[in-house]
Amino acid sequence: MIASKLINFASNKLKQNKILSHKLDSELLLSKVLKKKREELLTNLSQKINKKKILSFNKLILRRSLKEPLAYIIKEKEFWSKMFEVDKNTLIPRPETELMVEQILKIYKNKKIFILDIGTGTGCILISLLSELKSSYGLGIDISKKALYLAKKNAIKHLVNNKISFLKRSFKDLYNCKFDLIVSNPPYITSNEMRSLDDDIKKYEPKIALDGGNDGLDVIKKVIYKAKYILKFDGRLALEIGNEQFKKVSKLLLKNNFKIELNIKDYKDNTRSIISRLIR
Ligand SMILES: C[S@@+](CC[C@H](N)C(=O)[O-])C[C@H]1O[C@@H](n2cnc3c(N)ncnc32)[C@H](O)[C@@H]1O
Repeated sequence: MIASKLINFASNKLKQNKILSHKLDSELLLSKVLKKKREELLTNLSQKINKKKILSFNKLILRRSLKEPLAYIIKEKEFWSKMFEVDKNTLIPRPETELMVEQILKIYKNKKIFILDIGTGTGCILISLLSELKSSYGLGIDISKKALYLAKKNAIKHLVNNKISFLKRSFKDLYNCKFDLIVSNPPYITSNEMRSLDDDIKKYEPKIALDGGNDGLDVIKKVIYKAKYILKFDGRLALEIGNEQFKKVSKLLLKNNFKIELNIKDYKDNTRSIISRLIR
């Protein structure tokens, strides 16, 4: 069968299963099987695909039709123009997190800082920051050993492993170190929202990366409280938050001696990250 026909079949199957990105996903999955870039595939849609490859492709299409995220099937996700290895033990990096990275890079351009990334997951935030802040260095922590394994691989791939240490530890157990900047995209989904998430997320992404307790603020509150003790004087805390959490989180920050410097909004005009500074 030729590629274009195969893509059409697969795309229809995904469409029937209510996958909005059915055409793109089919193309990307066929590219994965052929070990080619999507652009290459699209310029040669009349190529014949052999039986073995069709079988492999159909298996991937079946996984996608069951709502498994594309990133888990192809084992990678682009973030800040870099490909990060991902698997079911890590949250899939999101574009709203890139908005926070962008602002942090503006603030610290050409500076030499020590960064802590709480809940590093794939390492996407810290690795992206350190790829550009050439003389800075960082510590990435997570309670998931399997996520840290991937974060280390990603750091090696992006040539920043000599500037990063990774540690399997909760932020609650960090003592005796002081950072210029703490970044965190902590779990912040409320228990109610957890129940109504799309299947792609609910069935596949790790609960410890998402679940922020009843009001979604369980981890955020503790991160803010801990940050006071492990930030250097004048240090900054950059926090990603949920859609409706700005008011509550800003109150918590002010109560804990943080001054809000920047609210970062997403394309729908919701504040999705806050950069604040510790004042004493
Ligand atoms: C929302 S994910 C963020 C992953 C990655 N930083 C990103 O932005 O894509 C939250 C991460 O926090 C980790 N985590 C949850 N509780 C933690 C804790 N107490 N200490 C450190 N990491 C924690 C989870 O394992 C998960 O990897």
